[in-house]
Amino acid sequence: MRKAFLAFAVFVSCAAMSVAFASSTPQNRHSIPQQALDATAPPTTRAQLAAARPVLARHAMVVTAQHLATRVGVDILKQGGNAVDAAVAVGYALAVVHPCCGNIGGGGFMVLHLAKGKTVFLDFREKAPLKATPTIFQDAQGNVVKGRSTHTYLGVGVPGTVMGLNAALKKYGTMSLKQVMAPAIKLARDGFILRQGDVNILHTRSKDFAQYPNVAKIFLNHGKPYQAGDRLVQPQLAHTLELIAKGGTRAFYRGSIARAVVKASENNGGLLSMKDFADYTVQWSKPVQCEYRGFTIMSSPPPSSGGTTICEILQIIKPYPMSRWGYGSVKAIHYLVEAERRAFADRNTYLGDPAFVHNPIAKLLSPAHAAKLRTTIDPDKATPSSQIKGSLGPVEGMHTTQFSIVDPKGNAVSITYTINYLYGLGQIAGNTGFFLNNEMDDFTSKPGVPNSFGLVQGKVNQVEPGKRPLSSMSPSIVLHQGKLFMVTGSPGGSTIISTTLESMLNVIDFGMNMQQSVDAPRVHNQWYPDLVFVEPGLLTDTTREALEKMGYRFKVVRSWGADEAILVNPHTGLLEGANDRRRPAGMAAGF
Ligand code: DON
Repeated sequence: MRKAFLAFAVFVSCAAMSVAFASSTPQNRHSIPQQALDATAPPTTRAQLAAARPVLARHAMVVTAQHLATRVGVDILKQGGNAVDAAVAVGYALAVVHPCCGNIGGGGFMVLHLAKGKTVFLDFREKAPLKATPTIFQDAQGNVVKGRSTHTYLGVGVPGTVMGLNAALKKYGTMSLKQVMAPAIKLARDGFILRQGDVNILHTRSKDFAQYPNVAKIFLNHGKPYQAGDRLVQPQLAHTLELIAKGGTRAFYRGSIARAVVKASENNGGLLSMKDFADYTVQWSKPVQCEYRGFTIMSSPPPSSGGTTICEILQIIKPYPMSRWGYGSVKAIHYLVEAERRAFADRNTYLGDPAFVHNPIAKLLSPAHAAKLRTTIDPDKATPSSQIKGSLGPVEGMHTTQFSIVDPKGNAVSITYTINYLYGLGQIAGNTGFFLNNEMDDFTSKPGVPNSFGLVQGKVNQVEPGKRPLSSMSPSIVLHQGKLFMVTGSPGGSTIISTTLESMLNVIDFGMNMQQSVDAPRVHNQWYPDLVFVEPGLLTDTTREALEKMGYRFKVVRSWGADEAILVNPHTGLLEGANDRRRPAGMAAGF
């Protein structure tokens, strides 16, 4: 690892190299859509990257995308709570202080590693309403109706966050729901002072907020966008959270909160019913697991595609000397992109909710499958995506947020949860005070037609009643020789997978510290569109030229993702916390 770091240090300190800076935020389908972008911080320069240092702590660490939520987590740990107590407190706090993404109106996944050695996975992903059908997003002619899955109540899935957080607390926490929800309720009732990083995100949807009086009343300041220094107070949300703190999961799924959402849905052409809420369940299972250079990756299984796709990519690149080639080198980018292209083709063809479809994970992650895919990679040329299909043959049968916590005992939690777009549907049911998701857009609206993240998916992920849409969210935990090594994950729609993967590779193969790994400019390919997305600063002119000669087409995108990660440095034993600088309102803190 040390040798690799030297190579990386040489790369980043070579300030004289000219960098292919370009900026474009394309809006068409050949782009990473705005939903996945976080243009709230300038790109990372090489000098900044070389100098990037994580926050260090000896006992415990919390990293979230909003500094007040980080404080909540640290306080719970200092009061003697464990990582799950802190995670639930943070989950509710982010719903208040990071309302674009933190939520009680959406869903997500948790990977929990217990200090005793066991690792478990919790799926609290939204489900499609019972009245949903495979063609709800199509017109009578079978054409996908633009915006139906993202801007109407048809896009709302049955929320899972409240049941998920409460189930985690009940099974593995030590504190009461009232205790862990108290900080969130206080932040909602008393309000909090907005920083520039907070208002930058709010401003992305000010125009939408203005359309709905009940949203405008909370998220606009007398009709005007909030500015840094203003106080955001959310009394309706405080009330909703109090109902949950008092009445538990039932209060959300069987009481006035569900009734308010169902009423709003009925009044606006949606499909949600009280039965959808009453029938909602969360699911405990095992994470998807793979080995890479002595590290064990424990990540999210279906209905997330994240863990499987990350592991498939790792299986493909395993024999290549990534570390010798170096971060940002022609060869490392070439083989990484080719592995991504093939793994995303499989993702989009074969993966879906395991309660409805068979996911051929063992086959996708087998060494034989990886070996077969490697033979299709031309060492000198990019493979056009059109030449790649789901590789097992025919099928047989923005916004989001990540937080990572390690407690003094060594328990670790990685959670990614989402309402899909920034502020989800952009609508709030009555006086509930929380944004509803538009997660139904993650389903295949029609096979072959890209969703809003440009993902071209198949029938396996079609809408069905009670089904969970395929996700890319990849909260992950990495172990080294059985010991906790890394807690990582990110928002960013389809780019979540490459962002999370690269946070691991940057440390394991390229010798970066956690902050450098999180800040390092990223690369992403998702099969279709047949483009390689790069953040400014990744490619030198020479590297870009060499790759273009091999057939690559690049799209430089200012930034995406927000990896909030923790590394247990095996050399120092210290925890390295890294808030992604693309989310400047966030913070890593520990003790
Ligand atoms: O579950 C998924 O894959 C998406 N709904 C995540 C959306 C997302 O990350 C948007 N933000 N960047």
